[in-house]
Amino acid sequence: MNGPASRPPWSVELHGPGRVGRALLDLLPPHGIAVAAVCGRADDRPETDPTTRRIFVDATSPRYDGAEAERWVTRLATVLTEGTPVVTCNKAPLAIGWDRLSLAARRGRTTLSCSATVGGGTPILLATRRLHRSQGVVRVDASLSGTLSYLCDRVTEGATLSQAKDEAIASGVAEPDPSLDLDGTDSVAKAVILHNLLYAPRWVETLRDSRPRLHLDEEGIRTTARAGPPVRAVATITPGQVGIALGSFPEAAPLRSIRAPAVVRVTLRSGLSSTLGGPGAGAEATAGALLGDLLELTDPLGPGIGGAIA
Ligand SMILES: NC(=O)c1ccc[n+]([C@@H]2O[C@H](COP(=O)([O-])OP(=O)(O)OC[C@H]3O[C@@H](n4cnc5c(N)ncnc54)[C@H](OP(=O)(O)O)[C@@H]3O)[C@@H](O)[C@H]2O)c1
Repeated sequence: MNGPASRPPWSVELHGPGRVGRALLDLLPPHGIAVAAVCGRADDRPETDPTTRRIFVDATSPRYDGAEAERWVTRLATVLTEGTPVVTCNKAPLAIGWDRLSLAARRGRTTLSCSATVGGGTPILLATRRLHRSQGVVRVDASLSGTLSYLCDRVTEGATLSQAKDEAIASGVAEPDPSLDLDGTDSVAKAVILHNLLYAPRWVETLRDSRPRLHLDEEGIRTTARAGPPVRAVATITPGQVGIALGSFPEAAPLRSIRAPAVVRVTLRSGLSSTLGGPGAGAEATAGALLGDLLELTDPLGPGIGGAIA
């Protein structure tokens, strides 16, 4: 009889050996998860080894627009269709290609695990999805960008936007090029993933060129703060709709000491709400979330939900 114990062991094929990828490589040895290949941009298709089962880990840079973005969605879809599970911290393909990827995973009878794309060190997707399945989630309000939270706090304290931006980059809270954070793309991408995890296949959102853009300005932040700090870029998710706007978000107040916090307020069908928050980003926290998905997947008792969308 062929039980799970007789199947070949899992091994990781890591794509994108950057900050998160390297942090993940450090976490794997104590868990006995082997690394089959580490692939940079130039390594197109590593050789396969029939003695192991591959897990494709996507820790590559996010591409939201253009040919490279499309090419990467196609690459992931092909991998899934071939039956290889994907574990990812890269928001972009999920935000622009949810339908194609979930269909590919179904065709390949495999999974796409994405806990690391939203919330980093805080299992926002897992908890929210569970709440939706058991109690029904009718709305989520979420502050999902550590960079925007930092800017809102510093401008509320009196800094100019430009000073706050420079500080955020110098201290590593923001990327050297924070444009995808500043115009809300990163937050909306996370909101799209959260939306689809809850409401697909009935409602599927896609991040398009015409996506809602956030327009940050000092006056807007300070005016909003008068309604009560902290001000946050709040993504709002309801079935069939994702938006983003500056708002007063009191739920974020207890987490202001955390460097890059993620906070979600989940409104249940009953009218009650539930709030979840914690560290939302950073290479180590994100690598930890990838490891969590890998452990679910490689568990000899079988995969749990792991943020899987299919
Ligand atoms: N850092 C965080 O706190 C954090 C949090 C949540 C999610 N994420 C997501 O995690 C992913 C990795 O982030 P990171 O901070 O590690 O970024 P990073 O340091 O810039 O690393 C990205 C790596 O991906 C490589 N790469 C780009 N395109 C590739 C391709 N087609 N095939 C193989 N490798 C490719 C890059 O190579 P080159 O150097 O040649 O470009 C680089 O080594 C991103 O999608 C990011 O949005 C990061």
